[in-house]
Amino acid sequence: MSNGNYLLKSAILCLGLIAGMRVSAQKLTKISPGEIWPDDKGEHIQAHGGGITKVKDTYYWYGEERRQGLDSNKRYVSCYASTDLMNWKFKGDVVQMTDPENLGRHWILERPKVFYSKKSRQYVMYFHLDNATYKYASVGIAVSDKPDGNFRYLKSFRPLGHESRDIGQFTDDDGTQYLIFEDRPLGFHIAKLTEDCLNIDREMCLMPEHMEGGAIVHYKGLYYAIGSALTGWRPNPNQYATAKSLEGPWSEFRDIAPKETNTYGSQSTLLLKVAGRKDTTIVFLGDIWKPKTQWDSRYLWMPVEIGDGKLWLPQPKPFKIDVKNGTAVKSPQ
Ligand code: GAL
Repeated sequence: MSNGNYLLKSAILCLGLIAGMRVSAQKLTKISPGEIWPDDKGEHIQAHGGGITKVKDTYYWYGEERRQGLDSNKRYVSCYASTDLMNWKFKGDVVQMTDPENLGRHWILERPKVFYSKKSRQYVMYFHLDNATYKYASVGIAVSDKPDGNFRYLKSFRPLGHESRDIGQFTDDDGTQYLIFEDRPLGFHIAKLTEDCLNIDREMCLMPEHMEGGAIVHYKGLYYAIGSALTGWRPNPNQYATAKSLEGPWSEFRDIAPKETNTYGSQSTLLLKVAGRKDTTIVFLGDIWKPKTQWDSRYLWMPVEIGDGKLWLPQPKPFKIDVKNGTAVKSPQ
């Protein structure tokens, strides 16, 4: 082998090794609440105020894309895919939209949530659509034939004619899908979607409590609803209530964590049910907002202690999750 050839081969080998190290270094074996969460490219995940949709064995995480340097006239929704909930592949910004309803500068698209309609075989994204003063208070809908987009804007409306700001998603064990929405005059709505997910079928319940970042999980015969108080980007003590039926009656709301921690600095966005062969783990998904540096906002994901009408978010610690078995274990730091 000539000297030149030898050097070239060595260089290729070195690059290969480095690339290999990068890949293996990227493989995450735990979720670390509050830390930078790198995607497959090593960049902090941008899926704020997000939701999760499971398609076969793949979880899709959609959220507000808030990276720096975006076109300030547009709003973006990102999509990430994972089969283990720890390692996420960036699938792109599946919504890149200019003001769809003439809402003016600083228009708002927040808290995207995606429902899959078996009937129409479409992915239907709901989001909070608003103007700068939060007076439009509506949901927007965009649809796609594939989970990873692109999503096409369809329409906006006020669910059941009511004001709607923060929204949440809930799919029951029987597959029925619900939109949760915060209505400033009235309270916390749970509304059943039509089969094509493009409209509201009917109201299940209206709780008079004013809660946003709403989320629900069905666990061992009880529904648990959580939400946060209305304090904007500032965290507050999130609370939960329980009911045997979505229609209620619902219990009173109680704290999910020590009051003084303000939910460890986070705000609820989803309760994720990970049902596996051995067990079922419910994971609290929250946002740790950084209003002045939104791109650096973090995530607080943490399995909750749940059962017999009680729900508790323990002190956040890194944990490893096993989606096949439905188990989670605290992992060494
Ligand atoms: C929060 C809400 C966020 C965002 C923020 C704006 O209460 O949960 O999604 O709307 O207010 O101040």
